[in-house]
Amino acid sequence: MKLNAALPSLVATLLIVATQSAAGGGQQLTVGYYNAKKCGGVEPIVSDEVYRALAADRSKGAALIRLFFHDCWVKGCDGSVLLDASPRNPYPEKAAGSSIGLRGFDVIDRIKSRLESVYPGVVSCADILAFAARDATRYLSDGHIDYAVPSGRRDGVVSRAKDADDTLPGSTFSFADLKTNFAKKKFDAEELVVLSGAHAIGSAHYPSFRDRLAAPRGEIDARYQTALRNAARNRSRLVANNIRDESYAFKKDAGYPTAPVNGRRDYLNNTYYHNAIDNRVLFRSDWALRTDAFAFGKLKEYRDKPKEWDSDFAEAMVKLSKLPAEGKDFEIRKNCSAINNPSRY
Ligand code: HEM
Repeated sequence: MKLNAALPSLVATLLIVATQSAAGGGQQLTVGYYNAKKCGGVEPIVSDEVYRALAADRSKGAALIRLFFHDCWVKGCDGSVLLDASPRNPYPEKAAGSSIGLRGFDVIDRIKSRLESVYPGVVSCADILAFAARDATRYLSDGHIDYAVPSGRRDGVVSRAKDADDTLPGSTFSFADLKTNFAKKKFDAEELVVLSGAHAIGSAHYPSFRDRLAAPRGEIDARYQTALRNAARNRSRLVANNIRDESYAFKKDAGYPTAPVNGRRDYLNNTYYHNAIDNRVLFRSDWALRTDAFAFGKLKEYRDKPKEWDSDFAEAMVKLSKLPAEGKDFEIRKNCSAINNPSRY
């Protein structure tokens, strides 16, 4: 089985030198932004907190990476996904159907309060999330995937559930739907395939994969589907995005090797592409990548070239981090879950 294939011996560290880039609202992003402001402790503090959180609960890494995607996809990287409901805004992005299972907010809050005690009013929540997603990526990939994050974002003051539901891709999307969705953000089909590889980690709730229990023959490996149906008898049971991380019983039902892999879950590598080629992916949107000849070719390429995926994933994460914030008013929030002046908006 390819899943245990030896990891590349050399750490593929990708240092992307980002020149200045606009982040919306007049913001300029630069690598080393906080160092230039004489706040050199910012990125090390974020890393330290992320590593502590993941050492205690490795699954938080997947949570942070998804949070970052949801933040940047919806009106740019502005920390709006972190905002709680308030009397003036009862349906923030968090309340959207597409936000099902979003978590990891506690890690961001912890980082923010530590940074506030050292550098009050300096570090945006949007930057914290971009750094935290990078640190989680590095941690979960054992350092194979690493990149420099341009920073200098400011926090938005608007967060609407409807924007999230109108913008984020759905788990039942076809390839054409996914391609259109990504094209709106100027991401091409290759980047869609690259970023989907994040589904090598993390887990999902029943509504996200319910349709797969009745997926027609050909759209899902028959034994994987049986395993999924058995697992879904308990509707509150989370199912791992990656069959590698499933229980012994699940793997046995699916006819998948039951030997533990590296003894830990959520290892971020190119296993998603092995699963995709074997037709054992969780969401219909994952399966949909097999239905397009170009995307199918890319699935095979990334299955066969793990290092290429590592560096392409790093590059796509940097591009994601540069999606410009679309609001008009910005601030550096004191608390990531609330805007500074709740009576204003
Ligand atoms: C291509 C379109 C995508 C669709 C349709 C999609 C859909 C989903 C869904 C439905 C879930 C499960 C939610 C739940 O039930 O709890 C999920 C989980 C996840 N997604 Fe995606 N996603 C997409 C792209 C991405 C991208 C671009 C990333 C990151 C770069 C990403 C990272 C993750 C991660 C890490 C999880 C697991 C989260 C956790 O364990 O808490 N996804 N995704």
